[in-house]
Amino acid sequence: MPFENIENQDLINRLQEFNQSHVLQFWSELTPAQRDQLTNQLETFDFQLIHSLTELASAQSPWEKIAREAEVPPAITLAQQAPEDSLYQQARATGTEALAAGKVGMILVAGGQGTRLGFDHPKGMFPIGPVSNRTLYQMHFEQVLGRSRQFGVRIPLYVMTSPPTHDETTQFLTDNHFFGMDPADVKIFCQGVMPAVDKDGKLLLETKSSVFVSPDGHGGTLEALARSGCLQDAKTRGIEHLFYGQVDNPLIQTCDPALVGYHLNSESEMTSQVVRKTDWSQKVGNVVSIDGKVQIIEYSDLPEKYAKQTNSDGALKLWAGSIAVHLFKLDFLDRSLSQAGSLPFHLANKKVPFLDASGKQVEPDEPNAIKFERFIFDLLPLAENAIVCEVKSEDGFCAVKNAAPANSETPQHVKDAISDLHRRWLQAAGVDLAPGITVEISPTFAADVESLKDKIPAGTKITETTYFK
Ligand code: UD1
Repeated sequence: MPFENIENQDLINRLQEFNQSHVLQFWSELTPAQRDQLTNQLETFDFQLIHSLTELASAQSPWEKIAREAEVPPAITLAQQAPEDSLYQQARATGTEALAAGKVGMILVAGGQGTRLGFDHPKGMFPIGPVSNRTLYQMHFEQVLGRSRQFGVRIPLYVMTSPPTHDETTQFLTDNHFFGMDPADVKIFCQGVMPAVDKDGKLLLETKSSVFVSPDGHGGTLEALARSGCLQDAKTRGIEHLFYGQVDNPLIQTCDPALVGYHLNSESEMTSQVVRKTDWSQKVGNVVSIDGKVQIIEYSDLPEKYAKQTNSDGALKLWAGSIAVHLFKLDFLDRSLSQAGSLPFHLANKKVPFLDASGKQVEPDEPNAIKFERFIFDLLPLAENAIVCEVKSEDGFCAVKNAAPANSETPQHVKDAISDLHRRWLQAAGVDLAPGITVEISPTFAADVESLKDKIPAGTKITETTYFK
């Protein structure tokens, strides 16, 4: 193979050692700038790691054994969260105090590419407000702003992007003046990437001068937080806990004081919010307990027979579905940093377009590649006193994942869920709502039922579609 002008003999040796020299097959056609681009990219790869991960693909899955040992996790259930319950009251009071003291910040992960949604921009730019058409980003930013005003503090927001979403996200948020947040309170940081391989463990060329890579999973959050200086920023501000959520769920109860309080009162280093699964095949991570440690088995890893297990009353045994809302103690994140590199990789078979040996673009019909991702929730078993808190699905979880006409998690499902939630808030505040009208409440107008009561007198009649802002 003609490798003229490659000064880096070490790189050539590594490519040969790991049987990846095919990535240089178009070398003689490349301009000097393209050659630099390719060699610079290849220099960032850990070929030994890619090789070991590829071997994992043919090894027996560890999940069967893990799932066999999975028990129900310790959880604070809905029944224990009744407003009159004394532990609930204590939790709200403790959480409120911590929030008002400025000890809580927020991480929003938005590095995924939203392939299933078929949207050609970062997912956070997707319009989802049922009346306002606000984007996912606007909803999350306003939720943080709403909480900041409610507690009289500045809650910093750390937004994680990935190389494919970073520039467009930064531009969009800047153009929209961070939806009212002080720019000093918003930090955008970028996660890393990992190459994918084909069934023979070979890297895939995206172009003649670049190898296909994709975001390395939100397990990269921790290292990216540290690398970008965000972890230090949080410490400097006196933040002690970071609330974590995904951009695709506009129903997140951002920095919910009760959740913060349960986390603090249990001295938990990592707390996860869950919903009761409605169906064994629901696509949510399964929060379980193994050897007394809380852990999440991703839906794609849990063998069907374990997902289907039921109790004597017919209810699902592994009932706790992760909504990917977590609360981390900052000290725990700091301590885990040294272990972040050892978080396991999860393998997924995906369709990845590539250039074949003749330089022709191939669009596969079937999964042809293995992608490697790390998951942040694999930190759970490392945390002391980890707890799980249940939330009603209709109050805290409706993520936009799929394009219509899928039968779940489409934009229309999410819009309906937002309007239904806000209808219930208005009714709980004593508002007289005409049947069937769509409503939406901006968190800067009211963050919950209590604050809504201060804004709209009981008995007010609403007869048409309304956006309260
Ligand atoms: C995810 C969770 C699942 C949870 C469900 C709740 C994972 C692996 N699984 O499933 O346990 O029950 O959400 O809705 O997360 N992201 C990044 N960088 C990446 C990959 C993803 O920031 O490299 C972000 C995405 O922007 C998105 C979120 O993580 O906000 C979820 O990613 P996605 O791949 O859609 O996960 P799900 O399969 O929906």
